Amino acid sequence: RDTDCQVINVDKLTYAGNLDSLSEIMSSPGHIFEQEDICDGKAMERIFAQYQPDAVMHLAAESHVDRSITGPAEFIQTNVLGTYNLLEAARNFWSGLDEQGRARFRFLHVSTDEAYGDLRPDDQPFTEETPYLPSSPYSASKASSDHLIRAWNRTYGLPVLITNCSNNYGPYQFPEKLIPLMILNALEGKPLPVYGKGENIRDWLYVQDHARALHTVLVKGRPGRTYNIGGNCEKQNIEVVRTICDILDEMKPANGCRIPTAGCRELITFVPDRPGHDLRYAINDTRIRRELGWFPQESFASGLQKTVKWYLDNPQWVERVRTGAYREWIRANYEMQGREGF
Ligand SMILES: NC(=O)c1ccc[n+]([C@@H]2O[C@H](COP(=O)([O-])OP(=O)(O)OC[C@H]3O[C@@H](n4cnc5c(N)ncnc54)[C@H](O)[C@@H]3O)[C@@H](O)[C@H]2O)c1
Repeated sequence: RDTDCQVINVDKLTYAGNLDSLSEIMSSPGHIFEQEDICDGKAMERIFAQYQPDAVMHLAAESHVDRSITGPAEFIQTNVLGTYNLLEAARNFWSGLDEQGRARFRFLHVSTDEAYGDLRPDDQPFTEETPYLPSSPYSASKASSDHLIRAWNRTYGLPVLITNCSNNYGPYQFPEKLIPLMILNALEGKPLPVYGKGENIRDWLYVQDHARALHTVLVKGRPGRTYNIGGNCEKQNIEVVRTICDILDEMKPANGCRIPTAGCRELITFVPDRPGHDLRYAINDTRIRRELGWFPQESFASGLQKTVKWYLDNPQWVERVRTGAYREWIRANYEMQGREGF
């Protein structure tokens, strides 16, 4: 929305992808949507040849830790092999550019703080020099892809950038992630499942701040460099869930919501811990602040208020994501336009 650049949005539309989330910009001339899989080398070659991009921002991934525990194969496929494919397509395209084009080109890989492993309560936050020690199939696959990215820089000179960001939250987040899951379960009067005793600590960043950080790194970052992105906002999971409960109690949503009269906190239910559950993540983001002048603009209190309000105001989006109706819509819409592959 806030750039003159043309954005070619390449997405396979897995269960996590949703064209409804793009409705605001779908008809904008600055945005083109291509449904493709990053594991498909030929498709990626076509995209580079057709659009001649100045830069790649690589976000496509399997991203849910719980899913990576029950089914790691997709994570290796997309996060490791898909990244390899995309890197090779980018390298082929980049090596055919003239000197100026090669110098200008950027490949930004959007990674996670989870690649660093976890911290004890008194440990110093992760810096860009913290060695990788991933714990889950998800974080291991993201760490692997980061290694590939660095190797393509060192070996071939591809001008890459890596960002390691903490937990995001905000509008349009798929309801399997902690914050939307809690909001939506509470509205239906369902239990709010909290792993263990809810003592695990995450650093939270509003999604718009992450987006601004990615744009900043792309435009101002030094090729070959890694930048940590964090919210300076460490919270225990139980604290996050209680805050959501209090916001909902205060907002008193109507529209058939089933929040107990005694308040949302009644719904909190502790469940057996996730295997290999990381205790704490915390980010030292001095580099991006000092070198690139980025800092988060949203506080946790205001970001969470906005997020809860967004889910209350958009029941249709939620309903369609949950029922898979948007998939039907995609199929019907694209069949109407004579497109194949749905
Ligand atoms: N959400 C967070 O808290 C967070 C924090 C740090 C880093 N990240 C990273 O940011 C990126 C985006 O995260 P998210 O939370 O939006 O994830 P998400 O799971 O909500 O969305 C992933 C998107 O990638 C698409 N996709 C998946 N496999 C694909 C493939 N093979 N080809 C093309 N598209 C494919 C999906 O359709 C979906 O639109 C990921 O790389 C993730 O590791 C996320």
